[in-house]
Amino acid sequence: MAETLTRTATLEIRGLRAEVEGKEILKGIDLVVPQGEVHAIMGPNGSGKSTLANVIMGRPSYRITGGQVLFKGQDISGLKPDQRAQLGLFLAFQYPTEIPGVSVVNFLRSAYNAVKGGEKISALAFRKRLKEKMAMLGVEDAMVARYVNQGFSGGEKKKNEILQLAVLEPEIAILDETDSGLDIDSLKAVANGVQQLIGPNLGVLLITHYQRILNYITPDRIHVMMDGSIVLSGGPELAPELEKKGYEGLRKELGVQPGEGGTDNGGDSNHERR
Ligand SMILES: Nc1ncnc2c1ncn2[C@@H]1O[C@H](COP(=O)(O)OP(=O)(O)O)[C@@H](O)[C@H]1O
Ligand SMILES: [Mg+2]
Repeated sequence: MAETLTRTATLEIRGLRAEVEGKEILKGIDLVVPQGEVHAIMGPNGSGKSTLANVIMGRPSYRITGGQVLFKGQDISGLKPDQRAQLGLFLAFQYPTEIPGVSVVNFLRSAYNAVKGGEKISALAFRKRLKEKMAMLGVEDAMVARYVNQGFSGGEKKKNEILQLAVLEPEIAILDETDSGLDIDSLKAVANGVQQLIGPNLGVLLITHYQRILNYITPDRIHVMMDGSIVLSGGPELAPELEKKGYEGLRKELGVQPGEGGTDNGGDSNHERR
C-alpha cells in the first residue's frame, strides 16, 4: 500500500463530514480515487455532490467537521485551493464563471504558470502547447481569443473547462456535471475530449446527475450519493441499473430516508428532473 502511494497520486477521502453555513451536508464520505482510474459519483440534486467537490478543492465557506482529505498521502485540508492545484488537483466547475476582459489564451497561460510554478513559460512556448491541446480536443482559434466564458454557450463553457484540464495536466481531476445543460452533440464532443485525456496519468472523479455521459466514458467504479452519504458503490454495470430504477426506486430499495427538508430539490434547481 505505502509503496503504491508513492508511485501513484491517490485522492483518499476518509470519513469526511462537512458543513455549509452551519448545515451538515456531507455525513461521512469514504472514497479512494487513484491516478489512472475513473470514478463516477451519481446522485439526485441536492445530495451533496458539488459540496464534496468544493470541499476537496478547499473552497472557502465549506467547513470540514470530521474525517480527512488526503492527496499523495498528505492531509490537504489546511491548504488553499491554489496550493491544492499546484499539488495536482483540478476542479471543473458546474457553473463556470465569466472573466470579462481576460482572453482564454491569457487566462490559460496565467493558470499554467500559477499551477506549474518555477520558471514562467514564454508566450510562444505556451501557444505551441496550447495549439496541440486545441487540435486534440477540436477547439477553434476563435474560441481562445474570446473573453473567458463571456457569451459562451453551455457547450463552449464546458469545452473550455476541458481545454483547461488538458493544458494543466493534473493528476486528479474532478468534473462537476460537465455534462449538464449540453445538447447531444456538445455532450459527445465534451465526453470525447475527456476520453482523450483519460490514461494512466489522470484520475477522474466524474460527478453527474444523469447516466448519459457514461455512455461515452466508462468508469471503473460508480458511487451513488444520497443525502450526504455514499449509499451504493459498484462497477459500470450500475449505470443502466440506476437508469431503470431511478434514484427514488433505489432509495426505497435501500431504505434510505430522504434528508431533512427533502433535499432532492436543493442545489441545482435549474436542472431538469426525471
Ligand atoms: N454555498 C452554499 N450555501 C448554502 N447551502 C449550500 C451551499 N452549497 C450547497 N448547499 C446546500 O447543500 C446541499 C447539497 O447541495 P449540492 O452539494 O449542490 O448538491 P448536488 O451537487 O448533489 O446537487 C443542498 O441542500 C444545498 O442547498
Ligand atoms: Mg451539483
